[in-house]
Amino acid sequence: MPEKIRLGIIGAGKISEVLHIPNAYLSEYVQLVAISDKSEERLDFFRKKLNDEKIHFYTEYSELLEKENIDAVVVALPNFLHAKASLDALKMGKHVLVEKPMATNSEQALQMVQTAKQRGKILMTNHSQRFFPHHQRAKEIIESGMIGEVRLVKTMFGHSGPENWSPNAAWFFQKDSAMFGALGDLGVHKVDLIRYLTGLEIVECAAMVGTLEKDASVEDIASAVLRLSNGGLATLDANWITKGLEENYFVIYGEKGALKIGQTDPSKIDIYLSKPVVFHGEIVLKPLFTNEDPYWKMPVIDHFAKVCLGIEKPIVKPEDGMMAVKVVEKIFESSKVGGTVKING
Ligand SMILES: NC(=O)c1ccc[n+]([C@@H]2O[C@H](COP(=O)([O-])OP(=O)(O)OC[C@H]3O[C@@H](n4cnc5c(N)ncnc54)[C@H](O)[C@@H]3O)[C@@H](O)[C@H]2O)c1
Repeated sequence: MPEKIRLGIIGAGKISEVLHIPNAYLSEYVQLVAISDKSEERLDFFRKKLNDEKIHFYTEYSELLEKENIDAVVVALPNFLHAKASLDALKMGKHVLVEKPMATNSEQALQMVQTAKQRGKILMTNHSQRFFPHHQRAKEIIESGMIGEVRLVKTMFGHSGPENWSPNAAWFFQKDSAMFGALGDLGVHKVDLIRYLTGLEIVECAAMVGTLEKDASVEDIASAVLRLSNGGLATLDANWITKGLEENYFVIYGEKGALKIGQTDPSKIDIYLSKPVVFHGEIVLKPLFTNEDPYWKMPVIDHFAKVCLGIEKPIVKPEDGMMAVKVVEKIFESSKVGGTVKING
């Protein structure tokens, strides 16, 4: 029997339902011991669904942190609570897996990074797109040099809005609880993925955002042009106005060829090479959908547990979560000032 981490879940909303809780049961490195949510209704839902006497339920996460003998927590709350709950848990000596965006500003994110370092605890942001098999394969291909130096990235994540995802989505539309709209909800994934897949930093941005359809104090549409640290460019679209199937693609045009993920068919990575021979390769994987899929079998929790136990090195470092928040902040700044904005690491 492998060693297990004892885990508490803070926030039993939709992402905990489809990702964290089922995958905690699937991992042989995790013992789920407690769940907290301020909604009694959500706790009842899980009492019935899990029917597991070993799990304790709390409406106050502070009580969970005080009473339970746990090693780690998942923080899956509305965005404005990510920093506070993560800091509370880190200060009580717990490892933390926090949902994206890691915080609602980069100062809070820095405080979280520093606190985790001081306390010697693991702090990971759930940049779940890093764990998609497509993206893992694409990273290997890019690192092998097959498509050469990255010149241009085109990426988009759009769907019809959080109201079609979570039954309690009202907070997603309010600036005081979410801070960012589609950009913080969806764009932050692709900002992170640009850094992860290309291995390049984002050094400058020019952007526009708007609110077209939702009754919201945050944006439901955002487009940005980003300059990469090698001089290449990236264009990023994030929105909640995409009808029908979600758009969730990442295309890289390199010096020797192009690699397309989720653009022509959600189950494929397409590779087009023009040098030294013309080549079109396809790698077929399980379809790449998130919000269309009722149950995400992704190894985030399993990996987090192995990192806590010292078995694996983190796929998402604390600074990665912080950089994603910083770039999102700068994209907003650019849209406000109506010009390009530099981004320093
Ligand atoms: N990584 C991903 O791929 C991914 C996907 C979806 C959502 N998320 C993120 O996960 C987080 C949660 O999103 P969701 O879709 O589950 O939202 P949700 O609204 O379904 O769930 C949030 C839950 O937090 C609870 N809550 C609110 N305040 C609380 C408090 N003080 N103490 C305890 N519980 C409290 C609510 O009752 C609700 O059940 C968000 O930050 C979102 O951006 C990440």
